[in-house]
Parts: sequence; structure tokens; C-alpha cells
Amino acid sequence: MGDHLAKSGHGTAPALRWEDPPDGPVLVLLDQTRLPQEEVELVCTDVPALVQAIRTLAVRGAPLLGLAGAYGIALAAARGYDVDDAAAVLAHARPTAVNLGYGVRRALAAFRAAGPGQGAAAALAEARRLHAEDAAASTAMAEHGARLLAELAPGGGYRILTHCNTGALVSGGEGTALGVVLAAHRAGELRRLWVDETRPLLQGARLTAWEAARAGMPYTLLADNAAGSLFTAGEVDAVLIGADRIAADGSTANKVGSYPLAVLARYHQVPFVVVAPTTTVDQATPTGAAIEVEQRPGSEVTDLAPSPLGTQAYNPAFDVTPPELITAIVTENGVVSPVTAESLAAVCAQNDVR
Ligand code: MRU
Repeated sequence: MGDHLAKSGHGTAPALRWEDPPDGPVLVLLDQTRLPQEEVELVCTDVPALVQAIRTLAVRGAPLLGLAGAYGIALAAARGYDVDDAAAVLAHARPTAVNLGYGVRRALAAFRAAGPGQGAAAALAEARRLHAEDAAASTAMAEHGARLLAELAPGGGYRILTHCNTGALVSGGEGTALGVVLAAHRAGELRRLWVDETRPLLQGARLTAWEAARAGMPYTLLADNAAGSLFTAGEVDAVLIGADRIAADGSTANKVGSYPLAVLARYHQVPFVVVAPTTTVDQATPTGAAIEVEQRPGSEVTDLAPSPLGTQAYNPAFDVTPPELITAIVTENGVVSPVTAESLAAVCAQNDVR
């Protein structure tokens, strides 16, 4: 896996891009573990390098993992690796974000359906199609989300609390929850973005604050455990988060710390809104209890603050919020509210009639 400083004369390099130099195609990732200190790109020439980038969170966030999976199949095909093996290892590189397996399956199906000698080109075309669809979904979610905010918090001047990172770093477009925040900001309606640090890997402090600063948003960083006092002070008009997997009943897995925010929001009667494309809805997972939550090394917690040698740490990457605590789910096809299995299925079914 190569490593070089991103060329960023015109701004930041994209989170992920395909390149085809003379010595063979590569997938180039903006290494999110190095932000915000450095903009460094990782050049993946093979699937093991991409799997390593996924596991270490160099590339992360549900929609972007879908793109990484699809381009990973295209890379395997173009480089002459066994595509079925690549699909198996890529799809399971991380267990919770359903988009990863979805992206892999889309590119794999295109590869298999192609004529002799056409598989690599077909897989790449499918990855590019998914990329364009994800960008379009971002735009649509931002529009639906902005309209929903106007209904939920009439009068504008929103103070929005968010968790983890859900912007252009996780998407082919401008993101999910942060895409909605950006739309509100552009409309002059964002009074403040409250950014949870998002322990232990600090996606909020490192990545959301970085994206918010670059967009010129008024934002304030807070330790995750300071959220309660913000609600008590009446400083939050809405909570907006993304999702890694939404079960058929609307239960939503997102970055650990999302569920406590949903409980706080309900207690304080503040809307709690999930923003996610329909590719994050997994009809094959019936309930929240059936969502596999990734457990990450305890060292991610113990490395963050001094603790006695040998201390064990509990480090689930995600938690699950039940549908009854979710005011609305914003998808590219529209807003699901109240969140029920039926309303969620109906918004997803719109994809079948296109
Ligand atoms: O472990 P991560 O950083 O991949 O977790 C990402 C999140 O939890 C995001 O909130 C989620 O993927 C939604 S991104 C649009």
C-alpha cells in the first residue's frame, strides 16, 4: 500500500478515487486516520491493502464503505485476482455497515453477468454507477432534510447536535447528516453545529470539525459526555446522525454514543433524526437485536488516556437506537416518520419502480 501527500492545491483530495496509471489501476484513498494533521493518500494496488485500509478506518463511513467494496471488486478483476475470494474478504472486512456488502455484491453481479473478457470493465462501470447514485442520494437527502428541519424547528436558526462523521468524507457526494447541516448552513439557517468528539477514535473532533471548519460553519466541539448539559440548557433544536445499518423495523446502528443521544433527545423533547440512503436499510435484518455490532480492540480506549497496565476496555464501535426513539429517517426517496417497518419498506420499494 503506497502513501503520498495529497495534491490539494484546489482543495482536499476526494475520499476515494480510481486511477489508471500505465502500471495498472489503483484505488486512491484519503487516509482518514491522518486527518486533520495531514492530507495523505493511500494508494491501494490490491485487495489486502484495501481490506487493511477498511479495518484501520483509513476509509470509513457506511456509504463510502459501499463504494470501497465495489471498487475493490473492480480492482481485483482488473489486476487478475480471484474475484470471488476478493468478494468474500472485502464483504467481511467490517461487519456492521451494510453498504460494504451491498457494494461488493453489486460489482460482483456486474462482473459475473459480463461477457468473456468484459468482467473487469463491467465491475468498474458498476462501481462508478454506485458512486454517482450515492452522490445523487446525498443531494436528495440534503433537500428532504432541509425541508424536514423547517417543519421540526420552525423559525430557522438551527442549533444541531451531531455525532461521528457523516460528510463528504463518507460519501460520493456531500454526505448524509452533515449534508443536511451543510444545506442549512448555505441557506443561512445554521446557528450552531454542536460536534460530539466521538470517542474513542474521535471522528467528530478530527473529521467533522475539519469539514465544518472548511465549510465555514459556526461549530463548537464538545466532549461526548457534555451533551446532557447542552440539552438541559435548551441549546439543541435537533440531533442529526447517520447510520451504518437500519434494520427492517427501523432500529438504527450508528457510531457508539448515538443511542444515549436518542434517549436524551426524547427526554428533552428534541427531534432525533437519522439521515441515510436506502442502501443502508437492510431488510434481511429484522430487528436491532439481529444487527452485528463490531467490537474493536480495547487498546483504542486505553491508548486514549493513561490507565493501569493490563486494563481491559469495552469498545463496541456502534450502538443501536430503537425506532420509537427516532423522530424521522431521511432517505433520498423521502422522509420516513413515524418510523415503522411498513413506512420504511414503502420508501425502499420506490427503488423497485424506477
Ligand atoms: O466506525 P466508522 O467511523 O466507520 O463509523 C461511521 C459512522 O458511524 C457514521 O455515522 C455512519 O457510517 C454514517 S456515515 C454517513
